[in-house]
Amino acid sequence: MRAPIPEQVGLLYDKLTDAEVLHFGYWPDPADDTPVEIAATRLTDLVAEKLAVTAGQSVLDVGCGIGTPAVRVAQTTGTRVTGITISQEQVKRATEHAAANNVSNRVAFRHADAMAMPFEPASFDAAFALESIIHMDRAKALASIREVLKPGGHLVLTDMFQRNPAPEGSPSLMAQMVDIWMMSDPVQLDDYPALLADAGLELVELTDVTETVLRKTLRLVADKLREDDRGLVPDEIIARLPEEEQARLMAFPDELAASEELGCLLLVARRPEA
Ligand SMILES: C[S@@+](CC[C@H](N)C(=O)[O-])C[C@H]1O[C@@H](n2cnc3c(N)ncnc32)[C@H](O)[C@@H]1O
Repeated sequence: MRAPIPEQVGLLYDKLTDAEVLHFGYWPDPADDTPVEIAATRLTDLVAEKLAVTAGQSVLDVGCGIGTPAVRVAQTTGTRVTGITISQEQVKRATEHAAANNVSNRVAFRHADAMAMPFEPASFDAAFALESIIHMDRAKALASIREVLKPGGHLVLTDMFQRNPAPEGSPSLMAQMVDIWMMSDPVQLDDYPALLADAGLELVELTDVTETVLRKTLRLVADKLREDDRGLVPDEIIARLPEEEQARLMAFPDELAASEELGCLLLVARRPEA
């Protein structure tokens, strides 16, 4: 499987530190039009609940972005959270974010590759990864996360997957996403049980959350693009597309939102006891 070079992913995210929302939202009710910023916190809260942790325990945030989810998880669960990211700039922004929220005593960030983690085995009670494994060799990342989890510890993650093949005669939206967002080769939902078994993790829950998570996020991106607002699609990302593809993205935003090709999954796994 092809996966991007971590350092290059880091350089991409170094340029994206102004983007406040780096992951999808969660809208359990299709009629709900909560803005993405609030719905993104709601997704973080859902993930926090599934970590099954108690106050004082330690949590790892794999691919922590600018620290928003890590700070939220620390606040809502009373845990200590360590976030790692491959972007040096994100470490700075995330550290500032923790300080601004008065949780620097419980939330820390460091620059590290999730596929070669600088932690002792069994260091964490739980781990989560919000839309970060999309950039990694999943087998290596899962094995590396398992190693640092304590026996019985939960891993909760979201990932994108190929839900359907691209329609006949149309360019693949997934292939385009892989290119511009420096993602690794896409997986299918059904690949996960074997990926987990190979990494020595037990499957607890695997849910297709395309409709409650991805669809509305893409719809909001489409609305913003129609209003010529690039807030949710940074210029650095648009610039990575060939010119004709840039025009296509701007001209047909609804194609993106209506796509049956892209899927989003929520996974809960566990390191087996002993
Ligand atoms: C889409 S962002 C999600 C950020 C954050 N999880 C959130 O939800 O706000 C992807 C994150 O994965 C991180 N990442 C990508 N590859 C990584 C790697 N090999 N090791 C550690 N972090 C990585 C990026 O630096 C970035 O922080």
